Order: sequence, then C-alpha cells, then structure tokens
Amino acid sequence: MENFDFYSPTHFVFGQDREDECGELAKKYGATKVLVHYGSGSAVRSGLIDRVTRSLDNAGIAHTELGGVKPNPRDTLVYEGIDICKKESVDLIIAVGGGSVIDSSKAIAAGVCYEGDFWDFYSGKAVIKKALPVASILTIAAAGSEGSPSSVITKEEGMVKRGTGSDLIRPVFSILDPKLTCTLPAYQTACGATDIMAHVFERYFTNTPEVEITDRLCEAVLLTMIKEVPRVIAQPDNYQARANIMWAGTVAHNDIVGVGRSQDWNSHGIEHELSGLYDCAHGAGLAVVMPAWMEFVYKHNVMRFAQMATRVFGCSMDFEDPQRTAVEGIKAFRRFLHSIGMPINFKELGAKPEDIPTLADNMKINGVRKGFVDLSRDDVCSILTIAANAEL
Ligand code: NZQ
Ligand code: ZN
Repeated sequence: MENFDFYSPTHFVFGQDREDECGELAKKYGATKVLVHYGSGSAVRSGLIDRVTRSLDNAGIAHTELGGVKPNPRDTLVYEGIDICKKESVDLIIAVGGGSVIDSSKAIAAGVCYEGDFWDFYSGKAVIKKALPVASILTIAAAGSEGSPSSVITKEEGMVKRGTGSDLIRPVFSILDPKLTCTLPAYQTACGATDIMAHVFERYFTNTPEVEITDRLCEAVLLTMIKEVPRVIAQPDNYQARANIMWAGTVAHNDIVGVGRSQDWNSHGIEHELSGLYDCAHGAGLAVVMPAWMEFVYKHNVMRFAQMATRVFGCSMDFEDPQRTAVEGIKAFRRFLHSIGMPINFKELGAKPEDIPTLADNMKINGVRKGFVDLSRDDVCSILTIAANAEL
C-alpha cells in the first residue's frame, strides 16, 4: 500500500425528507444569502425547489434562484451565476440536482473569487485558491460530485468538456434523500449506475499490489450495484434499493475506495470527449467505452481481471486458462450494462466511427496518457474502434 492522505470533509445528511433541514444547515455553516442553483425542471416539477426555499425562509436566510443547468453543464450559465453571486453578495451556493448542477455550482463558487476567467481553472491555466462554500441536495445517484473535489464543465463554443479539482470546492454539506431519486426515468437511473461502477473500476485496476482493503471495498460497492440496480429498474419506488445505490454513489467517488494505490482515469478521459462531442449522457458514454478499454488492457494483468470476474461477476476460475476467465468477466460486465438498458456500441450511443480520429485528437495526447496501461493516441483510436463495433 502506498502512503496517502484521505480528506473528505463533507457533512453528509442522509435520509427521507432531510432536505427540509437545508435552511438550518445553511445557517449552521454561516450563510446569510444563498443562491439556489438547479437544472432544467425536474426539481421544480417535483416541488423540491419550493421546499428548499421554504426551509431557507423558515431559517431566516435570504435567497435568489438560478435554474437552467443542462446535463453536460455549460460555461455560459456559469458566467451568469458568477454575476448574480457578485451582485447579490451570495455567501453559499446550494446545488439542487445531479452532477451537472453541482459541478456548475462549484464552477460559479470558484469563479466568484477569481479576477480572471473561471475557464482558466478548466484549461489548466490557473489553480483554485479560493471559493465560496457549496452545498448540495442530490437528486440522482451518479457522478459522486456531492462528495468529490471535482467539477466538469463544457465550453459551449466548440463543445469542449474539461475538468478541474480542488478540496476548496468539495461541498460543505450534502443532503442525500433516496426518495428524491424515485422520479428518475429508468434510463437516467442506469446511466447513473454505470457511472458509479466506472468510478470504482477506475480505482480497481491499479498497478499497486496488495491493497486488499481497497479491493474488498471496491467489490462491495460493485456487488451492491449488481444487486440493487435491477431492483430499482423493476420497482422505481423501492426506497431501500434507492438508498443503497445513493450511498454507493457517494462512496464510489469520495476516494475511500481508491486510496493507497495508483488509479486509472483513461476511460473517463475518453468518455468526456464523447459526451463533449455528442452531448450524450456521461454514463451512457462510459457503458460503451469502459468494457472496450478493459478488452484493450486486460493482458497487462490477467489475474486482476480474473479476480474481478470471479469475485464481482461470479464467473468460475479457469486455473488452466485464467485469460478465459478474465474475458468472461468483461463480457459479463457488458451484458449487465445491456440488461439495464445501456448502449454497448457506437450505433446504440449515436456516435460515428468516422469521428474516431477527431475524438482522439481532442484528447491532445502528447506522448502517453498515464494509467494502468499508458495510452498513446493510437491506443485511444484502437479502444474507440473496439467500442464502435462491440457486440454481446
Ligand atoms: O435538469 P433536470 O430537469 O433536473 O433533469 C436531470 C437531467 O436531465 C435529470 N434528473 C436529475 N434528478 C432527477 C432527474 N429527473 C427526474 N427525477 C430526478 N430526481 O437527470 C438528468 C441528468 O442529470 P445530471 O446532473 O446531468 O446527471 P449526473 O449526476 O450523471 O451528472 C453528469 C455530469 O457530471 C459529470 C459528468 O461528466 C456530467 O457532466 N461528472 C462529474 C464528476 C464530479 N464532479 O466528480 C465525476 C463524474 O465522473 C462525471 O464526469
Ligand atoms: Zn464519472
């Protein structure tokens, strides 16, 4: 195991109707004026925004609202949010929604405290040194942004999707009410589930040996997802299954299942180009990319893939031919994704094989991209070609 720091200071408030406590929590964290930031309508339609503003009113906290965050959140709305926060002296942003709303809130929070263009944090020109506090009320189990230090924003001009990270933008508190996720359509539920599993796999495939605790935590999250996702797709109102998935989504990405070893974020890097170019759901893009990445890299450590196959997907170990077990595990993963309604190839995703060179160029790989297996631009093209043509 490698040395590590683990710092995850978010106060998680979990359970049914806990969003009604947001006013008191905002007060506890010193807020006097809140920006309530939300998406394209689901939180208004469900009455959640009314409940949040009522709770703030009851706590005597002033507030202003900004809706309209799109999935793959855009820079244009971030600029609007920065202006509002400056004009109205906002001192806490509450994101009500999923990863897109939380990431947009994080970008606004950092942008308000910066003299230059907030995009500098995403283009790598500047590092976040100060940010307004952000809180979240989560409505979809997926990105893990409610506990992560990351934010991913898409620049409208050219549809370039880029991420940044800082502990300064980790939410100070995140309210997780599984009941709020019961209104999710099956497709969004499955996209979120795929993202959660991908966050674990990016940490599972490591070159650091003997981090048994982290392996076992990863496997626990994956097994939970395999059990609970089909249950919520069949019964969208199943509170207990929604609760397990919601907490799985948070622990999958606050790094508790990743510490002590090297990680690999290349599937995410490749996927961000797909959702940048096609504006598809991040989880759907991962469903196409991640099994293809696995097929491309598994020979680097056949036994690790065989371990995944046996412990996570229940495949039997072929001691004569572990490679066969490894391949069976990858196939089982793709079958699982298909069974929950995810696309498995370019056609099903709505992507075009002729765009593969552009997608690889957009990653701007200079030499190699580090990971479990370092990838060159040609390797990315090979992975995307596997993804384009994948079948069950
Ligand atoms: O906008 P509304 O109307 O709310 O609809 C949303 C949206 O269309 C809908 N939705 C959310 N909660 C709902 C609901 N519909 C009905 N009932 C509910 N309770 O779901 C759709 C997707 O929402 P979005 O926020 O985009 O989903 P997700 O949480 O998957 O976030 C995706 C974004 O997060 C980024 C992704 O790249 C993508 O841009 N990521 C952020 C990460 C981070 N900050 O740590 C890590 C991830 O790897 C990821 O890259
Ligand atoms: Zn993700």
